[in-house]
Order: sequence, then C-alpha cells, then structure tokens
Amino acid sequence: MPTRAINPNLLGATLNYLEPKKKEFISVFYSRLFSSSIDIFNFIIVEKETDMQRLQEAYLDFLSQLVKLLQAHEYEKANAFVSNLGTVHFKMRVPIEYYDHFARLFIETLKGFMGPAWTPQMAEQWEISYRVIIHLMKKGYGL
Ligand code: HEM
Repeated sequence: MPTRAINPNLLGATLNYLEPKKKEFISVFYSRLFSSSIDIFNFIIVEKETDMQRLQEAYLDFLSQLVKLLQAHEYEKANAFVSNLGTVHFKMRVPIEYYDHFARLFIETLKGFMGPAWTPQMAEQWEISYRVIIHLMKKGYGL
C-alpha cells in the first residue's frame, strides 16, 4: 500500500489544529505509550536511553514533512522517506510487534486532543495513514 492512498489534507488540518498545543500533545502521547507498555518503555528509555525531547520533535517533524510531500504529490519521495525511517528502526532493532500498539495509541491520543473537531473522516484517514506508514516501514526492514 503506497503513500498515494493517503489524503494529506485532513492530516494537515489535524496538525494545524494541534499546532498551538503540539508540545503538550506529543508528550502526552509518549507518556501514555510508556504507561501502556512496560516493554516499549524499557526499549526506548532503559535500553536506548533516548533523549525524549529530541524524539518528540523528530516525530512531529516527520509527520509534517510527510504531509508536505503528499500535498506536493511527491509520492515516490514520500515512499522512500517512510521506508528509510523503517530502515533506521530496523538498525535500532525496534521489534515489529510494537508498531500496531504504537499507532493505535497515537490515533487515540489525537482523538482526545481534537475533541469535537475530530470527525469520522479524520479517524479513517489517520487509520489508513498508519497502515501505509507501518507497511512502508516494514519494507525498510526488508520485510
Ligand atoms: C509508525 C511508527 C513510528 C514512527 C512514525 C516513528 C518515527 C520516528 C522518528 C521520526 C524518529 C527520529 C528518527 C531520526 O532521528 O532520524 C524515531 C526514532 C526512534 N524511534 Fe520511532 N517511530 C515509530 C515507531 C517506533 C516504535 C514502535 C519504537 C519502539 C518501541 C520506536 C523507537 C524509536 C527510537 C528508540 C528512536 C531513536 C530515538 C533517538 O535515539 O534519537 N519507534 N522514530
């Protein structure tokens, strides 16, 4: 499933809406991720000793760059951008089985922050997007 399957406009609208509270949003997401899974906490914090400030910024940058590439119809670049991120994760030995939980929690956190501005169309687009992202990241694992 390629990035062409994603409609970037609703994703862009979500990110714009969150812009004023994006720092709070992304730190709430990772806190919820860590409290929902001790294995993910151990991997990111204990084993990799990740600088969370840096990861939070890099994660938000990744999403906005992906939306920009898709809005510019740069599908080949977008596919390569996401599968390269998969290769980065492969080299860090991020277990593939963590991805679905990660995506589910991310979308739930988005929904909570969007409140009444969240629509079924947004939910559908974010779900499709994460299916595409995970599929392409797995390609970066050679899978
Ligand atoms: C759809 C899923 C995911 C996306 C979009 C994503 C995105 C990112 C991005 C953009 C970076 C920064 C890469 C860079 O600096 O070049 C990153 C780093 C990282 N990610 Fe992910 N990630 C995902 C899933 C996961 C999962 C499931 C784990 C582990 C449980 C994980 C662990 C890490 C770690 C340890 C780093 C390195 C942080 C550092 O030392 O700077 N990621 N991720």
